[in-house]
Amino acid sequence: MEAIDKTLLEAAMRVRKYAHAPYSGFHVGAAILADDGNIYAGCNVENAAYPLGSCAETSAISAMLAGGGRRIKRILTFGPGIEPVTPCGGCRQRIREFAEPDVPIVSLGADGGEVLVRSLKQLLPHSFGPEFLEDMK
Ligand code: THU
Repeated sequence: MEAIDKTLLEAAMRVRKYAHAPYSGFHVGAAILADDGNIYAGCNVENAAYPLGSCAETSAISAMLAGGGRRIKRILTFGPGIEPVTPCGGCRQRIREFAEPDVPIVSLGADGGEVLVRSLKQLLPHSFGPEFLEDMK
């Protein structure tokens, strides 16, 4: 865990308190270090119409874009349990849209000691991304 991860963790913990997760009870916070040097955080936002819920990572990406950040340089996710809470498959693809393959994804569980650090390309190998569409315009 690098020094920046402490700052990212603090941001994720702060925003996780505002998670709207009455259906799963699984409160998640995510924090992004963006290319503008700022940190953008988000929490999960569930909905009574279950499929409409958003993950913390999705919220953090929206906050980044709305705040003027364009690219993800590092992202941390923090949720309940012993195991590190890694981004779901859908969020790995959303991160892929705004991050280079080597960008570190840091995952922690609130009740566990292990800090899992994996690159985007480790968590989403052989992935599809924006460059595949470049010649189609
Ligand atoms: N969730 C996240 O926000 N991020 C993750 O990395 C894993 C799952 C949310 C989605 C849903 O609101 C709840 O956790 C249970 O899946």
